[in-house]
Amino acid sequence: MVSVRELGLPQREASRAELPERVTIWEVGARDGLQNEQAIVGLDTKLEFLDRLAAAGLGTLEATSFVHPKWVPQLADADDLLAKLERREGVRYPVLVPNERGLDRALALGVESIAIFGSATETFARKNLNRSFDEQFAMFEPVVRRARHEGLQVRGYLSMCFGDPWEGAVPVDQVVAAGRRLLDMGCFQLSLGDTIGVATPGHVEAVLAAFPEVDSLAVHFHDTYGQALSNTLAALRCGVTTVDSSAGGLGGCPYAKAATGNLATEDLVWMLDGVGVEHGADLDSLVSTSVWMAERLGRPSPSRVVKALTGS
Ligand code: HMG
Ligand code: MG
Repeated sequence: MVSVRELGLPQREASRAELPERVTIWEVGARDGLQNEQAIVGLDTKLEFLDRLAAAGLGTLEATSFVHPKWVPQLADADDLLAKLERREGVRYPVLVPNERGLDRALALGVESIAIFGSATETFARKNLNRSFDEQFAMFEPVVRRARHEGLQVRGYLSMCFGDPWEGAVPVDQVVAAGRRLLDMGCFQLSLGDTIGVATPGHVEAVLAAFPEVDSLAVHFHDTYGQALSNTLAALRCGVTTVDSSAGGLGGCPYAKAATGNLATEDLVWMLDGVGVEHGADLDSLVSTSVWMAERLGRPSPSRVVKALTGS
């Protein structure tokens, strides 16, 4: 493996115009990254993965999901994982919670930060949550109310913001109306999901411009069509300062077959280093963590940066 420090790259030449000083990386590898894996990853491996990611300097690690274990068997160990997780100071460990049953489980384990996850489209709401478009909000409303009453931080995800494999194009107005409902419910942040990775930068700009409160927005790009990094740069230029990514580019949604891996954290970090945006993560540690995880999963990481630095 070549060390980034030895290479002295990437070279910082780009103009920082219109870019934020600092970006928060919302690392989803242990949740979005692993949820689609067919072979069950052991609990000890998941715990070590999270610890390595924290040691690499990432401050937000989405740890798991309190969903129905039959719906996502890979994360059926969520309660055990939280019980055994050694939390590092200064690191937050949000978990996905779809309903009150999930919230009960999360509260019992001392979770401080949760994310509800809605859909901008009717079809995906039914496929992912077994609820109609309107029913999903009815399911989330008591979760958000109770979670906030308990002092929890609540994030809202919105999937299929840039296209849906069953419904095709998703109008920007529809995305904004659905996102508004999650923000108005009390979510501190709305993460706009390109679940199937079809967005392009102009589309990203159009969706972001349609929301008045860019400070409350995050972006969640899957890299199916290789556009995740360009889309991220477009989002940063629009004022977004929280970016979701997954170490090694792991990922996918079991209920959206067209979804592949998330934007790789290493690819994101390489770009942020190049354009001089702070993020707090150590690229060499991330790469060695992804190589370690790839060995456990039995296949190489799809991240271009991991491949380049490891010659794989
Ligand atoms: P349902 O079958 O409609 O559930 O599933 P229900 O409310 O009818 O309850 C049926 C039984 O399940 C009950 O038990 C409940 O207690 C139990 P019974 O009374 O029959 O014995 N149950 C639960 N048990 C444990 N934990 C729970 C839970 N809830 C109910 N939380 C449900 C509805 C929402 C639960 C189901 O559809 C589900 O779990 N869906 C999750 C799907 C999922 O995790 N998808 C991947 C995450 S989303 C994503 O990846 C996209 C994202 O990355 C952004 C992007 O890329 O766009 C976030
Ligand atoms: Mg996702």
